[in-house]
Amino acid sequence: HGGTVRRTGDGPPVQLVLALTAHRSAARPDATPTATQSGRTPNAARPGSPETAVRPGWTEAVDPGPLGVNVDAARADLAAAGGGPLGPEGFAVVRPGEVTVVLADDQAGLLYGLFQVVRLGEAAYGPPHPARVHRPAMRRRMLDHWDNVDVHPVMGQVERGYAGGSIFWRAGHPRRDRDRVRAYGRLLAACGVNAVSVNNVNVHATEARLLTDRLDEVAEIADLLRPYGIRVHLSVTFAAPVVLGGLPTADPLDEAVREWWAETTQRVYAHIPDFGGYVVKADSEGQPGPFSYGRDHADGANLLAGPLEPYGGVVHWRAFVYDHRQDWRDRSTDRARAAHDHFAPLDGRFRDNVIVQVKHGPMDFQTREPVSPVIAAMPGTRLAVEFQVTQEYTGQQQHVCYLAPWWSELLRFAPWGDGERTVADVAADGGGLVAVSNVGDDPFWTGHPLAQANLYAFGRLAWDPKLRPEAVLDEWLDLTFAPATSADPALLRRTLHQIMDDSWRSYERYTAPLGVGFMVRPGHHYGPDVDGYEYTPWGTYHFADRDGVGVDRTRATGTGFTGQYPPPWSQTYESLAACPDELLLFFHHVPYDHVLHSGSTVVQHIYDTHFDGVAEVEATCRRWEWLAGLVDPTVHARVTERLAEQLRCAQEWRDQVNAYFHRKSGVPDAHGRPLH
Ligand code: GCU
Repeated sequence: HGGTVRRTGDGPPVQLVLALTAHRSAARPDATPTATQSGRTPNAARPGSPETAVRPGWTEAVDPGPLGVNVDAARADLAAAGGGPLGPEGFAVVRPGEVTVVLADDQAGLLYGLFQVVRLGEAAYGPPHPARVHRPAMRRRMLDHWDNVDVHPVMGQVERGYAGGSIFWRAGHPRRDRDRVRAYGRLLAACGVNAVSVNNVNVHATEARLLTDRLDEVAEIADLLRPYGIRVHLSVTFAAPVVLGGLPTADPLDEAVREWWAETTQRVYAHIPDFGGYVVKADSEGQPGPFSYGRDHADGANLLAGPLEPYGGVVHWRAFVYDHRQDWRDRSTDRARAAHDHFAPLDGRFRDNVIVQVKHGPMDFQTREPVSPVIAAMPGTRLAVEFQVTQEYTGQQQHVCYLAPWWSELLRFAPWGDGERTVADVAADGGGLVAVSNVGDDPFWTGHPLAQANLYAFGRLAWDPKLRPEAVLDEWLDLTFAPATSADPALLRRTLHQIMDDSWRSYERYTAPLGVGFMVRPGHHYGPDVDGYEYTPWGTYHFADRDGVGVDRTRATGTGFTGQYPPPWSQTYESLAACPDELLLFFHHVPYDHVLHSGSTVVQHIYDTHFDGVAEVEATCRRWEWLAGLVDPTVHARVTERLAEQLRCAQEWRDQVNAYFHRKSGVPDAHGRPLH
């Protein structure tokens, strides 16, 4: 495709060509299929048939006419640079002369190349330059929607959703607004996301039927998202053979159960030839699973993986398995240990198309947690790492909390120590990166307009985990606020960085301290409640008493969780002296006067960070006021409204946490500030 692009400013029009290379990506079983044909929607895909690679909705490349000469020059340039196959979804941007050329081996690559040109803006049409090659680090960059078809009596339409209703369903039926889903596909492609699971991991009765008699609804979403290089996945219940198939059992070793999954999966592929696969939450928080039949999670996952395998589908089997009915008096059970205890012994037993999906931390998407030890414990298994873009525990899209700095730390973490592979490497070699979506039918997509940056950053970091969070924010700012066209570009850019760059750390300062986590209101998880979970069955305790606070997870005197890490972390976390301050209370129970590496005592650190965190939110509110007139007034109004709530909530956190620890410890603030 070739054409002329008109600029918004006064400059002359510029020219852009998108062209396929002579290479064709080698098909990988679970890679995004290569678009090679158009307008053909196969009625039924046969296992292994070429139809499984068809991407209906793509159009054939057209002759770029006179611009074609630039394609030849660009191809020669790429060849000279030794740029062999670009691979699935990869692309090169070349500017051999006056025309910018995007080259790719497949049409998905052209799509991503086009969005790169959009990101570059004016810079894409500057002086000639040789081929710049881009390839995704992760083969699967996936968003999990926790959307329900029906409005759930407790969780609403979207579980942990803070951006209105589902963009796929409304009040039990598919939404009629298909343009919205199409626009969503385009938005996701612009971020680099290439897979979407459309429904909640907690699969209720209505949603279970998406696998069978409501499959058309999933197929329609797949049709709408396909042109944007996105494959659709489905969360299924492990009990499906019973609840949908009428069988007496869902035992993974039962022959009738196996047949049911095989037939059901075949029907799915007849409707959706490029279906991505299943997502399963089993034996977790009340969801059914293989434990009911005395089987383990390898038996369970392999049951579903078998029928998906011939079609190139995968099972994302979640490792979020723990006892949610624990007795708080029982000090021997530690929820942090659970995923490793259940899954590490199964390493090597999963089929190749099983992806064990591991939450990044051992607990549950807290503001600060260590990296899950499971990530280092299963070298013979494909692992995906799961993040939470929806801000369940990070301000619920009422608070500004730019999460890319946190994710970047996690992705760069080296589970075997410096110089070894990182979390990003494990995900890249395995099943990729997955995150819980923060999108709903809200006019700003994400409730808080600035929460869009988290969606964008997730996709970009999944594409390239080495990107710096501030650089990703710059990309997002340029695309969202077009500072170049604003009255004061420097002020706009600087202020948004000041508001967002450190917002995750500010959030950490005014909420639960030193890695202890939770301390949120039970159920909805918004706002402070220090003892809210302390005497509940959920395994999320801080053990504060008059002398100290924190969870002893050492091998020497605690739950032994530190022993689930390989060296050097097993020693670092075990040692009170070596444990990083920000994780101290995750691993150790310490007295309030314990001195941190920072030089402060634990209790004074709690007071100071809570005062600082609120002061930072106050500064954010003032800074946002400066932007009135520089950003769209509706965006400005929405953010202003949310900032007022953020400030109120941050003050509440500060006062409750400080008052709580003051009352427990009896230690006054060294600076004499009111602790209530
Ligand atoms: C958290 C969250 C639940 C969710 C669960 C999961 O516990 O609060 O709503 O279902 O994570 O990841 O499965």
